[in-house]
Formats: sequence, structure tokens, C-alpha cells
Amino acid sequence: RKKIIIAIDGPAASGKSTTARKVAGLMGYTYIDTGAMYRSVTLKVIESGMLDEVRRSPEKVEGLVKGISIAFEGDRVLLDGRDVSGEIRDNRVAREVSFISSLKPVRDALLVMQQELGRGRGVVMDGRDIGTVVFPDAELKIFLVADARERAKRRHLELQAKSPEGFGVPDLETLEAEIVERDRADALREHAPLKKHPDAKEIDTSRLNIEEQVAMVHDFAVQME
Ligand code: C5P
Repeated sequence: RKKIIIAIDGPAASGKSTTARKVAGLMGYTYIDTGAMYRSVTLKVIESGMLDEVRRSPEKVEGLVKGISIAFEGDRVLLDGRDVSGEIRDNRVAREVSFISSLKPVRDALLVMQQELGRGRGVVMDGRDIGTVVFPDAELKIFLVADARERAKRRHLELQAKSPEGFGVPDLETLEAEIVERDRADALREHAPLKKHPDAKEIDTSRLNIEEQVAMVHDFAVQME
């Protein structure tokens, strides 16, 4: 069996990472969450106290991405050696990540890392530009979509599960507006915008459960191997 690259793209909270992780598990492949990489860079910019400065002079981000280390260890994401798996899911990161990921020096640096991570193939990589830019030769390209309201509901449940007291969990309307705004920014940016590759298979997950969407992607993958 040959090892392939599976590229899964789509808007925020469309089920990419859950699907990608499970398909990778079924196939014995490595799962790479590129959104976690953009979130890690964003966290680094926020923590460095440089966010406002980068807003004024975007080229200042270059110094922060130079020499950055982002590694995956099982389910954990390590930023410069520190476990940031929880922090990168904070809403303060989600609110800034579209801006940071629109910057050319950030995309250039992560593109190199992502291509390196997929070099031996046998990977499932999810993001916004995997099929279009990172691995345009990926054997299987999937584009996942779902209604904005449905995606907001899923994200809401996820946040509630993490914070049962409801601390800092935005209401459904706010979450939906944030998701729609993030998609708009991701789709309209100049470099590597969110876009379906013409060869990508589009799956609408609005009315699918996780098992169903995993089975669909897995079936495609087995045919390509
Ligand atoms: O997938 P996730 O929602 O965690 O991605 C967070 C953000 O990172 C996206 O909204 C987008 O701005 C950025 N991103 C990107 N390119 C990718 C993956 C994520 O620009 N390949």
C-alpha cells in the first residue's frame, strides 16, 4: 500500500480536526493540525506584548517567527518547548488568529514547516490552504463545509464542556458572528485564502454525525491508497 497525503480544508468549526484525527487513527497516519500552528504563532505574538506594534507595522512579526519552534507530541502542541495545547484554544487567540495568519512572513515560515512534516507522506493535514498551497499534489483533497449556525452550536458545546461553570463562554449568537467573521477574513485575504481546490471533494457535515463524516473520508482514502 502506498502512503498518501490527505488534505482537509474548510471554514472554522466545520469538523476538520475531529475528522482528520480519526481518519489518521484508522489509517495509521500522522495527523497535523495546521490551525494549531497558526494559533501558536498568534499566542506568541500576544504574549510578547507586540500585538499592537505588529498591527501598526506588520513586518515586525518577522522577528517573532524567526527561530520559532512548533512541535506535536501526541495530542499536545509545544511552542518553543512549552505545552500550549489549552491556551491556543482560548477565545483571545481565536480573535486574533485571522490577522496573524494573513501576514506573509508567518505563512512563509509555516509553509516550510508543514511541507517538511508531510514529506514522508502518510499524513492527514487539516487547515485552510492545504489542498491549494501546501500540498496541491495531495492524492486526496477534502473540503468540509457546514451551516454557520450548526458550526456555532458545535463550538458552543465544546467550550461549555471545557468550562462547565460557563465562565468566558460566549453566547451562541456571538460565537456565530465570530465564526462568520473569521471565515470572511480567511477567504478574503491576499495570501493563501480559504478556497476549495477544484479537485477537492466537498462534504457538507451539517446533517452528518462524526462517524458518518469519518466513514466518508476514510472510504475515499482507501480507494486512493
Ligand atoms: O483550524 P483552526 O480554526 O484552528 O484555525 C485557526 C485559524 O488559523 C484560521 O481561522 C485561519 O486564520 C488560520 N489558518 C490558516 N491556514 C491554515 C490553518 C489555519 O490561515 N492552513
